[in-house]
Amino acid sequence: MSTRIPQSFIDELIARTDIVELISGHVSLKKKGREYMACCPFHNEKTPSFTVSPEKQFYHCFGCGAHGTALGFLMDYERLEFLEAVEVLAQRAGLEVPRDAGAPAPQSHHKLLALLEQAQAHFRSCLRAEPVATGYLKNRGLSGEVAARFGLGFAPDRFDSLLNVLRGKASEEELLHSGLVKKNVHGKLYDCFRNRIMFAIRDRRGRVIGFGGRVLDDAVPKYMNSPETPVFHKGDVLYGMYEARKAKGAPHNLLVVEGYMDVLALAQHGIENTVATLGTATTSQHVQQLFRYTQEIIFCFDGDRAGRDAAWRAAEHTVPVFRDGLEAKFLFLPQGEDPDSLIRTRGKEIFLQYVEDSIPLSEFILDKLSRDSDIRTPAGKARLAQRAKPLLSKLPDGVFKKLVFEELEKRVGAPVHFAVAKPTQGSAHRFKMADALTRATPVRLAISALLHQPDLVKTVTAVDTLHESPIPGVALLARILQIWQQEPELSHAALIERFRGQEEAQQLQKLMTWEPPQLRNPDQAFEDAMKWIFRKTDQARVQALIDKEQTDGLSAAEKQQLRNLLHHKVS
Ligand code: UTP
Ligand code: MN
Repeated sequence: MSTRIPQSFIDELIARTDIVELISGHVSLKKKGREYMACCPFHNEKTPSFTVSPEKQFYHCFGCGAHGTALGFLMDYERLEFLEAVEVLAQRAGLEVPRDAGAPAPQSHHKLLALLEQAQAHFRSCLRAEPVATGYLKNRGLSGEVAARFGLGFAPDRFDSLLNVLRGKASEEELLHSGLVKKNVHGKLYDCFRNRIMFAIRDRRGRVIGFGGRVLDDAVPKYMNSPETPVFHKGDVLYGMYEARKAKGAPHNLLVVEGYMDVLALAQHGIENTVATLGTATTSQHVQQLFRYTQEIIFCFDGDRAGRDAAWRAAEHTVPVFRDGLEAKFLFLPQGEDPDSLIRTRGKEIFLQYVEDSIPLSEFILDKLSRDSDIRTPAGKARLAQRAKPLLSKLPDGVFKKLVFEELEKRVGAPVHFAVAKPTQGSAHRFKMADALTRATPVRLAISALLHQPDLVKTVTAVDTLHESPIPGVALLARILQIWQQEPELSHAALIERFRGQEEAQQLQKLMTWEPPQLRNPDQAFEDAMKWIFRKTDQARVQALIDKEQTDGLSAAEKQQLRNLLHHKVS
């Protein structure tokens, strides 16, 4: 990270933000005791296991283990970078983000996004002024209303149309970074997109991050897309996601199609829950993003060979994230048709019939593998088992996985062994988490007792001796003690933010939600643990000094230290 933000500002930000208020803007929270609960926005579930603690300013899901601070929530939910999340919180709190002097300019994202926004406005006004372009869209059945909703535009057939608008608003370097302008061999800048219908590609928050541009005739290339820029990553983007969410909130399902025009044509017919990949294969980022907003994905592919191959790749990316309660389906269109052509020639009802008839993931996978293996013979059946197992084993444990393996066994006609599912839902997960922490070691207990009851820091003196303790985790404990002793008003969230980017952060967040039985009496647990930690630390010091005495010898100060330690031990 190039720009450093002073820790004191992060503290201030966390102190001024109410995580409950922040999250309730996205998820409907219900008060339950001292905490708030909801169905988790990070995985699909029917009974709430997502909790938000106003006291700790921390959220945690017992179902999927998601957890974090207000900053963490924005980063995970809105998929923001750290600095972007800081910006959002600062804006909410009415604070200006300070930056260290001498640090590079505040990531160029701001500037870049502003340039893209200006380009978008320019393309839109050019579209209104160009009857040939509006005629093209009308001809393809699109209304002005849909064109406006998706922010369609037009890039005139000139080398300096956009350039004239942007020149003077940004440096040459910034213009080149926008991906909208290039430099020729003579060092002259020129517009990349010329004589094309412009499709504004927006991120989830509705900000324009790039463009696609289509020719008005049969020229090649038919489409051009913005190159990768700091804000535009083709493999992540789903065209139409912002518009779909805006129209539908949390849609029951999302259709994934291949082209810009497919999204637009379906929207024109009132099918607004549609997104498109940008001419790339479906990635696992796509799938994860989709399942964040809906529980059912319907992939639409061409019925030809290439379409079936693409569908298979999409299935492979879906399997590993396919938890119980989710659904993925595959829709194969008649050869040579895409959703745009199908809905325009045959109508909405027919298209919806195809949607209705789409094939569930499990069936798609088993059917394809059965066909490929020719399961009429025993050898074929064995082949099926052999091919299906590695892929299906990637399914997260759950009821669905069991059912799919049962179906596989039916087809194979023999048992197919697979890793036994462990329960991952609800409170069972709590114990799994605890297991992951292995044992309740004194160090872990001390830290989690402290997190439970921060005023326990007052009971510890001599934190200094702990800093060099060779016992794993004690250095972390010492840092927490020190921070909270110096700044007792710091919230849990602010404390965690002190460790952002460090290895300890993960450990700390896990311990925050860990509830071993000992913690029913945190005072006692803490006292016992600290006694053990001090004793072990002293013992380790003694051992180290004795070793040193035998090798390098001890200084006078060290000798005194050893005497003190031994004396202390005897007394
Ligand atoms: P298609 O060729 O199916 O285009 O490419 P389309 O969306 O149906 O467009 P129309 O109906 O001919 O106008 C599907 C997607 O692949 C990408 C685009 O994202 C397009 O929407 N693509 C296609 C490119 O990036 N470059 C190309 O030259 C062609
Ligand atoms: Mn098409």
